[in-house]
Amino acid sequence: MKTFSVICALSITILGSSWVAGQTPRGNPQAGQGIYEQQCLRCHGPKLDGNGPDGQYLIVRPANLQSQISRAKTDWELLITISNGVLFSPMHGFRGKLTDQQMLDVLSYIRTMAPFDAVS
Ligand code: HEC
Repeated sequence: MKTFSVICALSITILGSSWVAGQTPRGNPQAGQGIYEQQCLRCHGPKLDGNGPDGQYLIVRPANLQSQISRAKTDWELLITISNGVLFSPMHGFRGKLTDQQMLDVLSYIRTMAPFDAVS
């Protein structure tokens, strides 16, 4: 009987959490904000407009994530850039430096501040 209730409790936890996971957004924007401030702000700036304090020293200027060009990109495109970086630019890949979850968190922070907007 005890084993049965343990199995019941476990399956409720497992089924329950996957149901919750299906409902919640993939990233956590609050956690993402902290990561952004530590890892991205110096280039992309507090307003995500590419005017971070270090940006002025770069030949390839940081992307303005508020621009129509960036906002028209899908989550997937931005995530690939965050993960792999941009070749021959100061934007290095964050794979290995941030976990997959942290990259999703920072992406969801970006999308909170600069929502997806397809070019009409
Ligand atoms: C050393 C400066 C620097 C840092 C730090 C940096 N970036 Fe970048 N980022 C750039 C530059 C420069 C580009 C633009 C490259 C280009 O012109 O193609 C860029 C491009 C991007 C793009 C692509 C935008 C688009 O429209 O395609 C995304 C998304 C992005 N960065 C996110 C991030 C995130 C998230 C972080 C922190 C985890 C971060 N960056 C940290 C310099 C930086």
